[in-house]
Amino acid sequence: MTEAGQIVTLERVGAIGVLTVNNPPVNALSHGVRSGLKAGLDAAGADQAISGLVLICAGRTFVAGADITEFGKPMKEPGLAAIIETIENSSKPVIAAIHGTALGGGLELALACHYRVAVPDARCGLPEVKLGILPGAGGTQRLPRVVGLALALDMITSGDPIGAKQARETGLVDEVIAGDLKTGAIAFAEKVVRVREMSDKLKVPDPDFFKNYKSTLAKRRRGLEAPQACVDAVEAAATLPFDQGLKRERELFTRLLGGEQSKAQRYFFFAEREANKIPDVPGDTAVKTIRKAAVIGAGTMGGGIAMNFANVGIPVTVVEATQAALDRGLGVVRRNYEISASRGGMAAEDIDKRMALIKGTTDYGAIADTDLVIEAVFEDMALKKEIFAKLDGIAKPDAVLATNTSTLDVNAIAAATKRPESVIGLHFFSPANVMRLLEIVRGAKTSKPVVASSMALAKTIRKVPVLVGVCDGFVGNRMLAQRGREAERLLIEGALPHQVDKVLTDFGFPMGPFAMGDLAGLDVGWRVRQARGTKAPIADALYEAGRLGQKTSAGYYHYEPGSRAPLPDPDVERIIIEVSKQLGVARKPIPEAEILERLVYPMINEGAKILEERMALRASDIDVIWVYGYGWPIYRGGPMHYADSIGLKKIAERLSEYADRFNEPALKPAALLQQLAREGRGFADWQASAKAA
Ligand SMILES: NC(=O)c1ccc[n+]([C@@H]2O[C@H](COP(=O)([O-])OP(=O)(O)OC[C@H]3O[C@@H](n4cnc5c(N)ncnc54)[C@H](O)[C@@H]3O)[C@@H](O)[C@H]2O)c1
Repeated sequence: MTEAGQIVTLERVGAIGVLTVNNPPVNALSHGVRSGLKAGLDAAGADQAISGLVLICAGRTFVAGADITEFGKPMKEPGLAAIIETIENSSKPVIAAIHGTALGGGLELALACHYRVAVPDARCGLPEVKLGILPGAGGTQRLPRVVGLALALDMITSGDPIGAKQARETGLVDEVIAGDLKTGAIAFAEKVVRVREMSDKLKVPDPDFFKNYKSTLAKRRRGLEAPQACVDAVEAAATLPFDQGLKRERELFTRLLGGEQSKAQRYFFFAEREANKIPDVPGDTAVKTIRKAAVIGAGTMGGGIAMNFANVGIPVTVVEATQAALDRGLGVVRRNYEISASRGGMAAEDIDKRMALIKGTTDYGAIADTDLVIEAVFEDMALKKEIFAKLDGIAKPDAVLATNTSTLDVNAIAAATKRPESVIGLHFFSPANVMRLLEIVRGAKTSKPVVASSMALAKTIRKVPVLVGVCDGFVGNRMLAQRGREAERLLIEGALPHQVDKVLTDFGFPMGPFAMGDLAGLDVGWRVRQARGTKAPIADALYEAGRLGQKTSAGYYHYEPGSRAPLPDPDVERIIIEVSKQLGVARKPIPEAEILERLVYPMINEGAKILEERMALRASDIDVIWVYGYGWPIYRGGPMHYADSIGLKKIAERLSEYADRFNEPALKPAALLQQLAREGRGFADWQASAKAA
């Protein structure tokens, strides 16, 4: 009935019409798909010989969502709403046949169908909230009617999909088809004969149900507008007639789409994908599959790093200097798994399975057959050089040799081997089994296959990789150091730790610099300053007073026994006031807006310097680092996106002023920042023109 090569085809099998969407790779709802569906539905509707319709997709998945390349462009008719209307008005039953993932607009399309069948490993979800929007084609109105309010709210506000089994149990799917999907769906269509009314499971359990749901959500998804709006939309489903509910959904959708948060979240969606591309390392570069890994050192980082491999079934050998250190390190790993199992994060029987994949030893010979070695011993150049020289003599010729150093020169470490092309930095963040970011530090001599293999490995162990260059602190910590210096200056001038931290938690960070310092331990920074011969009068004074942070129940804050809640401490205030006095500073209150500028603008400035020096490939890569590694609120896109939203002219002006006021050369606006400010441009624009060139 239709010609070959079309995106949507209609064929007839007995009395059943089969509409097949074929728009690789994920059958996104592009304009071509929408027009094809509309035409196919109209043709099937007019065909007397057709009594029911199956809507199915070719390739690897059912419609997996909107076409992201159409984002931000005006919608060309027919829109999804027109197709949904055609299906709902059809006098012939329409059955969605789902395999792969029915996501976003794909699931909204399936929800409009009168019935849904799915293969056992199919998944259904509405991930729009992750882009700062909500399902805008009836998803918030139809899903709760089909599966009930509680599950619909969870799915829509989390964006996470459910599997076919749960979909069957909750009524989202009418039948799970174990055999061939098309055959099964046609058989189902022959059986059902007629359309059915939408189900209605909209019972509101108690009058405060939506209010309570929103307040829980406000804590869990702090600062985000979209999850709250999702609840409003579902509430409309429960309290308004269907048509008015749809209208309300549309209003909320339009408001979110035009807002700054969704703009930032959609920007970030692309930033994350872009970070995988390395211009001079093409996609077809030979990649080494890591079948067996080794980690040197079972301390804080080594243990966490080893867990990443065990979690995905890759055997990992952990080498320690002494049996005692090994036992302690692997003991911590086991305890972490036990805690995770007790909280329902994994099955209890998996603890032993994962531990069995982690082999502890004090014999370096045990790494001879591994494809990758990650060194995570003390931050000491002489020690790291000694270890890399040793690895050079033992590791397979084609093994990747990685260091987890946070501050040391990866090129100098590589030079301790006869194969610097095999050496790379894999900078994990603490806790290494939890934090998603992986800075991949490319040395001067690191080979392209080693870069490509490291990027691929990151995906395997479910990390978010960003390629960076060798410089002090790489990208993330280098910018963090700017914030740290200015945070200390704020204390000296008149602010208190909780006032500074509050500004950043209000901004959307999970914690401020001082609470973070207490968590990491104030001895960490003190040791770095000792090694570098630098000073931070307040941080030093706290260290000297034996205040090391949470581990001593006292740091910038006071901690009650067994609690991690930071409480302002009069002793700290006294220490701070004393330091200000010694330095001859007359303390005065600092407005919150100024605190924010003085913490964030220096980071942006450092980001600009990082770009000038080409230590990051793109401004958006810096944003990926800050969102995944440091808790920058995703709805503000990252520091460089945020800078663009403020305007670089203002940022450059303020930095100049602060540089003069504090006589601080590091605060002088970077050349790139000045140039873009002069030209009235932003980092995104600069990045786009660099890409085009
Ligand atoms: N802690 C963090 O937040 C963090 C974050 C990123 C990177 N790093 C980096 O990771 C590395 C390790 O840091 P950490 O916090 O895990 O330190 P740690 O002190 O907790 O652990 C280091 C471990 O290395 C072991 N070790 C020492 N010499 C060894 C040798 N010759 N052979 C085998 N094992 C040896 C020690 O026994 C100890 O268990 C450092 O380079 C650090 O800069 C740390």
